[in-house]
Amino acid sequence: MEFGSKRARNVDTTPRRPRKSVSRRRRQARLPTPEIYEEEYRYWPWGKALNLAAKWAVRFAPSGGVVLDYMCGTGYLLHQIARKRNDLRLVGCSLTASYVRYGRQKYPELELTYRNALRYKPRRMPDLVLCTAGLHHLSPNEQPRFVRKIAKEMAPNRWLILGDEVIRPYTTETQRRSAVIDLAMALIRHLVAQRSPPEVIQAALDVLQNDLFQAGEYKTSLANVKRLLAPYFVVRRVVRTWPNRPAPFGDYLLLCQRR
Ligand SMILES: C[S@@+](CC[C@H](N)C(=O)[O-])C[C@H]1O[C@@H](n2cnc3c(N)ncnc32)[C@H](O)[C@@H]1O
Repeated sequence: MEFGSKRARNVDTTPRRPRKSVSRRRRQARLPTPEIYEEEYRYWPWGKALNLAAKWAVRFAPSGGVVLDYMCGTGYLLHQIARKRNDLRLVGCSLTASYVRYGRQKYPELELTYRNALRYKPRRMPDLVLCTAGLHHLSPNEQPRFVRKIAKEMAPNRWLILGDEVIRPYTTETQRRSAVIDLAMALIRHLVAQRSPPEVIQAALDVLQNDLFQAGEYKTSLANVKRLLAPYFVVRRVVRTWPNRPAPFGDYLLLCQRR
């Protein structure tokens, strides 16, 4: 499929069955259905992080540029950007086939691809790259490879907007697990206070289980994320969108510029 082809955008190339290369070799996190995932944005504080990511992308993407969202989920964030900037070419890459199918139907203006971000080769150099709540789906070995890969795909001075949920610093496995529990408990308390539906709270419990046993989710500390970025990017802004009170964990957005 050519980047230049508008017709090609709506062609559903999602495999009926995930291909061996992407399904068997990876331990994927248990994710909710696309409908529940999008419902989460109303209750989870993550919705606030995405609003800020959209605002930054709208501001920093050059006119007529290519915006590439790695680990794009259903394409919700790209759609928020499309509403304000119809000059952009908006490309998303996700490894959850049901999310890609759902997003292609709901957001036909987007070009959503079912690919492993570690192998996906963008056809055109992206002018702005997004990765929100995606880095932690890669294993600790894969995370530096991924950051190096996206850096190689970008021209100097271009922007990367990286968002993630981070846990407090840790050195041992016991400390890591304890930090994961603290983040999850704060989140679940928040969801209960928001009167979230049971399926949304269940999704948070699933995330806790994934992270605790490193089953497709590998949240890390803000210091570790910054360390991964440092060789390739200057971090221009760091904003914690949740919680409001001082905390060593939470939802963070980093505005980074390619060196
Ligand atoms: C928690 S969702 C995040 C979705 C969205 N970016 C957001 O901020 O809400 C994680 C997404 O990462 C995708 N993902 C996980 N590992 C991936 C990989 N290796 N390559 C591409 N996408 C991946 C999943 O398919 C899913 O769409």
